[in-house]
Amino acid sequence: MLILGHRGASKAAPENTLSAFDLAIHQGADGIEFDTIEVDNHVIIFHDRWLERTTDGEGLVADKPIDYLRSLDAGNGEVIPLLSEVMHMLPHDCICNVEMKHIANLDSWLKHFDKAMDSSGFPLDNIIVSSFNHHWLKQLSHKRPDIKLGILTSAVLENCRDLVDTMNAYSFHVDLEVVSKEYIEELKTLNTKVLVFTVDKTEDMLMLSTWGVDGIFTNVPDTARSALGKCEMYQFADVR
Ligand code: G3P
Ligand code: MG
Repeated sequence: MLILGHRGASKAAPENTLSAFDLAIHQGADGIEFDTIEVDNHVIIFHDRWLERTTDGEGLVADKPIDYLRSLDAGNGEVIPLLSEVMHMLPHDCICNVEMKHIANLDSWLKHFDKAMDSSGFPLDNIIVSSFNHHWLKQLSHKRPDIKLGILTSAVLENCRDLVDTMNAYSFHVDLEVVSKEYIEELKTLNTKVLVFTVDKTEDMLMLSTWGVDGIFTNVPDTARSALGKCEMYQFADVR
C-alpha cells in the first residue's frame, strides 16, 4: 500500500512546506500530496483560503500579491513554496499528488505546471493531479490525456462509472469518513486505484490494507511505515 505524506509529514513539520516534503520522504513515504493555489500569476503550495491558520499573515490568499505571500512565515521560518520549487527538490522516484485547490483558469495553471515539470525534469509518470472540482478534471482530461487524474471525493458517489469514463481517471481519492469495504470494492471494479485520506491511526491503516486499498494519505508517514512495513509497490506507471 502506497504511503503518501499528506501536505508532507505535516504532523512533525509545517504543512505544505519544503521541509515537510523532505521529512515525509525521510520518514519512508513513497511520495507526497500537496495543495496548489494559483494567485497573482504564480502557483503556490497552500491549503486554506485564508492565511491565518498556517502563517503570520492575514487575509484572503487570493487577494494578495506574490511578494507579500512569499514574505510570510509558513512555520519554523519557512516560506510558502512555489510549485516549481517543490518539483525541483523532490527525488525523481517518488510519487507526487498535485491537488488543484484553486485555479484562475485551467490553461494558466497548466502553463505553470508544465514549466515546473520541464525545468525540474520530474517524470510525469509519477504525478497524479487531483481535485474535488470534477469539472476541472474533465477539462484537463481533454486537454492532457497524458496526465493521470485522481477524483477527490468526500461523498459516496452514485455516478462513479460515468466519472471514470468521462475523464479516464486513474484513481479515486476518498475521504476516510465515508469509506466502507463495499465502497472500496465497488470502486475497484472500475479498474481504478483507490487511495484514502487522511489516515493517521494505525488501526485504520491496517483495516484499509486488508480491504485492498492502494494507498493512503497520512500526516504521519513514519507511523504508517512502521505499521505497514515495506509493502510491495504496485507498478505505478503501468496501470490505466
Ligand atoms: O488529497 C487528499 C486531501 O488532501 C484532500 O483534502 O482538504 O486535505 O486538501 P484536503
Ligand atoms: Mg489536499
